Amino acid sequence: MSGPVHMSGIAELVEQRSIVVCCGSGGVGKTTISAAFALEGARRGRRACVVTIDPARRLADALGLSDLTNSAKRIDGPWAGELWALMLDSKGTFDDLVRRYAPSPEQAEGILANRIYRNLSGALSGTQEYMAMEKLYELAHDGGFDLIVVDTPPTRNALDFLDAPRRLTRFLGHRLFRMLLMPTRAYLRALSVATQALLRTLSNVAGTEIVQDAVAFFQAFDGMEEGFRVRADHMRDLLARPTTAFVLVTSPRSDTVEEAGWFADRLKESKLAVEALVVNRVHPAFPTTGPFPPVPVGSALAALVDNLHSYQSVNAREESAYAELVAQVAPSPVARVPLLDIDVHDIDGLALIADHVFDSEGGPARGSRLA
Ligand SMILES: Nc1ncnc2c1ncn2[C@@H]1O[C@H](COP(=O)(O)OP(=O)(O)O)[C@@H](O)[C@H]1O
Ligand SMILES: [Mg+2]
Repeated sequence: MSGPVHMSGIAELVEQRSIVVCCGSGGVGKTTISAAFALEGARRGRRACVVTIDPARRLADALGLSDLTNSAKRIDGPWAGELWALMLDSKGTFDDLVRRYAPSPEQAEGILANRIYRNLSGALSGTQEYMAMEKLYELAHDGGFDLIVVDTPPTRNALDFLDAPRRLTRFLGHRLFRMLLMPTRAYLRALSVATQALLRTLSNVAGTEIVQDAVAFFQAFDGMEEGFRVRADHMRDLLARPTTAFVLVTSPRSDTVEEAGWFADRLKESKLAVEALVVNRVHPAFPTTGPFPPVPVGSALAALVDNLHSYQSVNAREESAYAELVAQVAPSPVARVPLLDIDVHDIDGLALIADHVFDSEGGPARGSRLA
């Protein structure tokens, strides 16, 4: 960590933290905000990387993520630091993990070629959440980045990544799993009669090939549990570090606000705090200093004043929709990002979003900006 520069607010997160995890329900602009955070880190001189989950097509293109590579790519631009981006490939990450932990290259190839594995690794519930954690862990260790911003999957289960590593180890330690491993263990040969009977029954129902595949699958994982378990503990530590921050993203709509409150509660249960709230797509307040003098009815000016008043009442309604959430995460800072009249699909759009997030606190003026 750098010296004890005193900073508060959202800017502190991109200037001084190592990991920022953006959570919130799908569709609120989580991917956009994550990318804007990484861009802001790069503008402030850091080597920043955003790990995206499901970028909209055009944003992915702008970030050079047209195809899944599972490794970070650098985006050139007029910032002092570096901006990198990676699109999570759950399947590829799982494959890498198998290669790393298999006791031999042959065992790794056996798993990767297994039909059950090939279907399961893409579909296993919690895989995406787990793999997001796995990738984060890998990047935090060997990526050489100052700042990693993580976008989380767009589901209510997104926070499953908090205990996803543990769930995977639980799965590997499952009784059925143990039982299927038994035939390989000499000292349990005698007991395997029951297992054989079970397998025969399963074979009758599901077909011999499938069962053979399943047995091969579980046998292939034999001996890899310990590696997974140790890694799961490290991941948990990584999330709990003071250099990791959770940012909650919401829109001002009451349904997403409610969901955001639920996310904040779940983090709290895991002894993790929301360190900033970003309310995206708000209608601006356009504050006025006092009531307008009377304007001629039906004039163009009257139409503008009407328009202003309706903006102000929409803004007031929105503010009250998320007032409770602001109180729930207090004293963490809150940034409001207006609903822009452009679709945010390139670096300029992200820069505009970042300006709103990081300037809304009235922080010190900064140097070089994008046009
Ligand atoms: N403040 C904003 N103003 C206008 N459009 C926005 C804003 N924030 C996000 N968008 C757009 O909304 C869409 C969804 O955003 P995205 O970040 O992919 O949401 P999520 O990741 O939460 O599903 C994208 O097309 C994005 O460009
Ligand atoms: Mg998204």
